[in-house]
Amino acid sequence: MDGNKYEKQDMVKRPRRLRENGIIRKMVRETRMDKASLIYPMFVTEGSGIKEEIPSMPGQYHYSVDMLPAALEEVKDAGVSSVLLFGIPDRKDEIGSSAWAEDGIVQKALRAGKKAVPDLYYITDVCMCEYTSHGHCGALCGHDVDNDATLPLLARTALSHVQAGADMVAPSDMMDGRVAAIRKTLDENGRTEIPILSYAVKYASAFYGPFREAADSAPSFGDRKTYQMDYHNAKEGIKEALLDIDEGADMVMVKPALSYLDVIRRVSEQVNVPVAAYSVSGEYSMIKAASMRGWIDEAAVICEAATSVYRAGADILITYYAKELAKYMEEGRIG
Ligand code: PBG
Repeated sequence: MDGNKYEKQDMVKRPRRLRENGIIRKMVRETRMDKASLIYPMFVTEGSGIKEEIPSMPGQYHYSVDMLPAALEEVKDAGVSSVLLFGIPDRKDEIGSSAWAEDGIVQKALRAGKKAVPDLYYITDVCMCEYTSHGHCGALCGHDVDNDATLPLLARTALSHVQAGADMVAPSDMMDGRVAAIRKTLDENGRTEIPILSYAVKYASAFYGPFREAADSAPSFGDRKTYQMDYHNAKEGIKEALLDIDEGADMVMVKPALSYLDVIRRVSEQVNVPVAAYSVSGEYSMIKAASMRGWIDEAAVICEAATSVYRAGADILITYYAKELAKYMEEGRIG
């Protein structure tokens, strides 16, 4: 075709006008993000001198408590203001009693972290699965998790995290009524100021695979389908979110993120609290694996993926790529 011979079309509306250069493209962005909305998950383990890479999550580590402050400094220096702590204890039992131990791993991590890097915001994951010998998220009754027997264990764990310095607690167990139980216990102990971020809309997902290796928390039998949600359901996510808000959740979470953008959209339209989305271990590992093979451009893909989560309606993003994303937001590459 001869490029010189063409007729100008009589077109009034030309969407390309607003894509002409970087300045106008940035001006008309519909999705705005800020690094203040990023939360970085971290794994803390017993022992000393440990900074061990998690095989299924290259670039993510297990830290012993003594190695944690340096890692927290890095998080802060990257411009991320909040962390979500997971503990890997050295002893497990039927009811997960090391979850609420005074010298439990998360409790020790909180004390050390708050002392060394006090200006980060510390959120803790409240669940039993890393602490129970059977790997389920609560106390068992036969072969199923006993919902109501688990509530006091969760409440006790949340309180002990708060007493060790947690700024916010995030229950991830999916027991019915846990937000109410935790709120009541915190309030009875004078901790009315501590917010609860509920993993309200948490699906039974294969995307947690790498995390379970990282946290040594895979169930020794069965699965989590009697408490985590069925991925065929979206309306039920709204029910879960509203229930938890009624019980006192200050923020709700949808998890995982990328396969659940429709759920993030629906929940965010229905609630009047901040909505967090958790881009989980499997999402991280897929992107990391493909980029390590040179099959995708890691930075470009994580920017696009993170933006999609915000575009779907999330206010907050929990991600293993928080440090990188903070930089890209700061640079204006996204946001
Ligand atoms: C604990 C918990 C899990 C995750 C967060 N909290 C695992 C699970 O429910 O099996 C998953 C996080 C991730 O995959 O990054 N219940």
